Amino acid sequence: PVPASLGFPGIGFESVPASVSITTPPAASAVADKITVPAGYTAELFVAWGDPIMPGGTAFASDASNTAAEQAKQFGAHNDGMAFFPFTGADGKPTADRGILAINNEYTHEEILTPAGVAGANIAAVRKSQAAHGVSILEARRRNGKWAVVKTSPYGRRLTANTKTRISGPAAGHALMKSNEYLIGDNGSFPTGKQTDGFTAYGTINNCANGVTPWGTYLTCEENFNGNFGANAPLPATASGELGKLFNRYGFTDAGFAYNWHKQDPRFDLAVNPNEAHLFGWVVEVDPYDPKSVPVKRTALGRIKHESAQYVVDANGHLALYMGDDERNEYIYKFVSAGKYNPGNRAANRELLDSGTLYVARFAEDMTGQWIALLPGTVGVDGKALRDNANFAGADDAEVLAKILIKTRMAADAVGATMMDRPEWTGARPRIGGFNKIEIYCTLTNNNRRGTNAPSVNKADGSTTAGAARPPVDAANPREDNIYGHIIRWQEDGDTVLATTFGWNLFLQAGDTKTTKTAKPTNNYKGNIVADPFGSADFGAPDGLWFDPFGRLWVQTDQIGDASGDWKNLGANCMVCADPNTGMARRFLTSPNGCEVTGMAMSPDGKTFWVGVQHPGEGAPASNPEKISRWPANQWGVESDGVTSLPFGRPRSAVVVITKDDGGIIGS
Ligand code: FEO
Ligand code: CA
Ligand code: CA
Ligand code: CA
Repeated sequence: PVPASLGFPGIGFESVPASVSITTPPAASAVADKITVPAGYTAELFVAWGDPIMPGGTAFASDASNTAAEQAKQFGAHNDGMAFFPFTGADGKPTADRGILAINNEYTHEEILTPAGVAGANIAAVRKSQAAHGVSILEARRRNGKWAVVKTSPYGRRLTANTKTRISGPAAGHALMKSNEYLIGDNGSFPTGKQTDGFTAYGTINNCANGVTPWGTYLTCEENFNGNFGANAPLPATASGELGKLFNRYGFTDAGFAYNWHKQDPRFDLAVNPNEAHLFGWVVEVDPYDPKSVPVKRTALGRIKHESAQYVVDANGHLALYMGDDERNEYIYKFVSAGKYNPGNRAANRELLDSGTLYVARFAEDMTGQWIALLPGTVGVDGKALRDNANFAGADDAEVLAKILIKTRMAADAVGATMMDRPEWTGARPRIGGFNKIEIYCTLTNNNRRGTNAPSVNKADGSTTAGAARPPVDAANPREDNIYGHIIRWQEDGDTVLATTFGWNLFLQAGDTKTTKTAKPTNNYKGNIVADPFGSADFGAPDGLWFDPFGRLWVQTDQIGDASGDWKNLGANCMVCADPNTGMARRFLTSPNGCEVTGMAMSPDGKTFWVGVQHPGEGAPASNPEKISRWPANQWGVESDGVTSLPFGRPRSAVVVITKDDGGIIGS
């Protein structure tokens, strides 16, 4: 075992081997197309795309012929972050055998979503894609030792791209938040000729990772929302004008990604409804215990490509949320609430996320750092207060603040924040067992646009930052051609979330210790994961990151999931358990072909672990046969795909439930 140490209970399992290519060269299946867990553990299928989760739900049709209305009562597509919400048992303790799981559904692959598989083919296909996005809220129950979805539970609920939500906080009601109002129907979206009020938005999309609050609500984070929009006429002239600048900075394009919603649904056509764009990119709070509650977009937390939101409450009751903006050379943020968390009165915390201060991080070369407040009076690198910057000019400071929050990325540019190697999940180390610091970790998954190796652009949207064609390496992002990524961590000065300064270091640089790549200094590729005497647990592209309440650090990876190219030795995507004191890691799980491993939730007793598998078979079909996946049907013999129109079958994103055979705590 990996021994216990300060605030860390040790690791009791042996690493599973990397799932490397099983054929050379990669053929029909490049890696084992299944989940593998350590000896002494069992993984079972819990819920997959298309499974019914609420009253009136329909069984999954293996030819993907379920309609949008059916999808809206089924588990959504491409699950990502998740959290478990227990009930209170008769003994007053949180239940470990029954609870609610809230699970994000990030996006869709149109080629497997419908029988025809053509993106934007008609309004029915678009409505189904919209219904497969969002959040799935379901009741989980263990009976006779077996976990299952309670398919008719009154807690079962879907949030989709068409669910009515409320906008709150400082940007609510601003003119940029008033979009065209539509009647949303099965056969189209029809303009009413009116504007929305700036306090209402329809839908939540690209729900990537998540957070929870200490008062038991779920935070779902809207990430690559730009891709769901397009324009049927050219967008406003780029780089000039308020809308053009905003669209550029957030990566909107005429074509969008592969959804083509805008071709059927004018709500997502930026040429006719530009302000709809500003209604996404938020953290959305939802109460899983109240199926009738209206989800709330919390604008005080800023508008970025939100990855996750990790809370910390300090000894004085102040609450912070730590958040990454996942794109190359974007930033790390924290929100600090103006009010204090009230543990004795749930209702008193309901609007806590509406007022406070949003900060962005600057990491200095001497391993100190600064949180820079994004407020009207903050002076930017141009020597002007943000209120005097034309991008945020407003009638008063309230309007300036609204614009800062809608244009968060531009405000962070203006104050000179540190461009990071794609900030993904944040996690807070529990203050237990003698460890008593506020210490936050953030995965920096990769970056091929830094240093002399990079192309001559730095933002993923093709833009550059004034004065610098691309960022050089720095102490916090020390590798050019950072294909394997790293994990940074920081401790708040004074052990309060109110701190405006912190100290930081690199927890680890991921890599492949067996690499033969030599284009850069070898540590560029080898990384520095501490060798485990019982076998290497090399990994790369860290993404999902979460501390369980016992002090174990769990990291999930998101690379090309077929063990090809730079991933030949690292194999399929995986999940590791790491010792935060030493950086030693053990591989806990390997995954099916072409998927990423993302999302995790634990029962309060630590004995049940739900883990997400997203987009098995991504990259298929025929043009990329090594990515074929038939998971999960192939592993558990359920839902035989029965599909003849697709040579690769119909893989399904799913959540698995993992238990220890001796009934012990996961990882022990
Ligand atoms: Fe949806 Fe940044 O991962
Ligand atoms: Ca992610
Ligand atoms: Ca990722
Ligand atoms: Ca993904």
